[in-house]
Amino acid sequence: MLQKLTIIMSRNLFKSRIPLISKLWKSADLLESEKLSKEIKDRVMNIVKKREDEAVNGEVNSFGNDFLGLLVNAYHDSDEKNRFSLEDLLAECKTFYFSGQETVNSLLSWIVLHLAIHGDWQEKARREVIDIFGNRNPHLEGVAKLKIMTMIINETLRLYGPSNGLARAVTREVQLGKLLLPANIDILPLYTGVHRDPHFWGDDVHHFKPERFAEGIAKATNYTAAAFLPFGLGPRSCVGMTFAMIETKIVLSMILQRYTFTLSPTYVHSPIFVLSIRPQHEIQVILEPPHHNA
Ligand code: HEM
Repeated sequence: MLQKLTIIMSRNLFKSRIPLISKLWKSADLLESEKLSKEIKDRVMNIVKKREDEAVNGEVNSFGNDFLGLLVNAYHDSDEKNRFSLEDLLAECKTFYFSGQETVNSLLSWIVLHLAIHGDWQEKARREVIDIFGNRNPHLEGVAKLKIMTMIINETLRLYGPSNGLARAVTREVQLGKLLLPANIDILPLYTGVHRDPHFWGDDVHHFKPERFAEGIAKATNYTAAAFLPFGLGPRSCVGMTFAMIETKIVLSMILQRYTFTLSPTYVHSPIFVLSIRPQHEIQVILEPPHHNA
């Protein structure tokens, strides 16, 4: 549902709209997106209602300390000034769902693609995982030691970072390098511009070379923080960054423990930008038990 809505949003992102017209006439996309928004709202409200009912029926003595619990608490805040509106609650749930789900999905897909092509890096990553976890489930202490995997994730974020830049509103005239930006415009700086700039990364900028990150991000970027910004930069940068990295490492470790994978001949390379950068035709790989490649 959210994916359908995202696709509709993406294809309408740069279409101009005439004020008031949409009140008189609605395009098929607008009608479909209103329907999807309502369904998403109903589903989120069902989850919230369930949480409220548990507290009201005395099954639990609060709305909970997890993220949903904090939001529901804010929605019921006795102080009207601090209270979350229904719109706030829904917007937060949708933001976290989208930011958390689509991004990590895309990242994992691109990593699998690169490791399917670069079997040597797949093998290095697997060896590291087996050295640290054996065949046991990944644990946090071990996740912190995954150096090769961190390099692979960073290199994938550089080449196919799920977020390809975000719109910013220019509220006052500002000089940005050689550009003079007038007030009241929106800009969309694309991360690909810096992530694939040979000035920062060298002539092999388009190649998958995790070894760039062997001595960390600062060294890889020659201490230019804005040369690598898959999670954004500044006060509005991604709040889920650490969570996303840990989640990716856990999932990838579990895949590497169980399978070796090679790219299927049916794969067609066609990245598209539908709010996140994703493989248009999915990524087909051939899975085998790990000992086949050992
Ligand atoms: C590979 C995974 C992810 C990538 C590449 C990514 C990237 C980004 C980027 C580029 C931004 C905007 C930063 C800016 O405006 O400067 C952002 C914002 C955000 N991300 Fe992520 N993200 C990822 C995973 C997650 C996860 C797992 C969560 C939550 C569990 C999350 C929650 C958020 C939220 C709530 C914001 C908005 C922050 C704000 O406006 O203050 N993200 N993310």
